[in-house]
Amino acid sequence: MFAATAIRQTDKPGFYRELALQLEGLLAGESDPIANAANTSALIFEQVPDLNWAGFYFLKSPDELVVGPFQGRPACVRIKVGRGVCGTAVERRASQLVEDVHAFPGHIACDSASRSELVVPLMKEGKVLGVLDLDSPRLARFDADDQAGLERIAALYVAASAWPEG
Ligand code: SME
Repeated sequence: MFAATAIRQTDKPGFYRELALQLEGLLAGESDPIANAANTSALIFEQVPDLNWAGFYFLKSPDELVVGPFQGRPACVRIKVGRGVCGTAVERRASQLVEDVHAFPGHIACDSASRSELVVPLMKEGKVLGVLDLDSPRLARFDADDQAGLERIAALYVAASAWPEG
């Protein structure tokens, strides 16, 4: 059984280094992308403070994301590329760090408690597979260290998971 031990690092880079080690242990020997997304979102939600949602959206067709495994309240199922924070991350192929979701034009509110958001695209060989999305009830919860840390987590998830060709 995998038991996530509380991370005691005081600085964020150290916190994310430890989180990445735990994720590598959790995903070791498993390549199913849904199983790995489920465990990745569970680990993030357990370890990263001040979150109300953590999970995945997958690009199921060229222009639409569909919700995948997550922790938190039930969420919007489909998001068009270019819409909301998630669809913007896909369109721009770049992480979106939103300090105040109310100030982000087109933000899609799945949980009215959300105040800030970090969305990281899942990239494999130049293709976007989907996004990893974190929401917080705290304004400006995420900074550049969170972004770098979660980009590493997303890369580990992609590397561990086998994707069907296409
Ligand atoms: N806020 C996101 C939608 C997904 S939920 O936060 C889980 C967006 O604007 O794309």
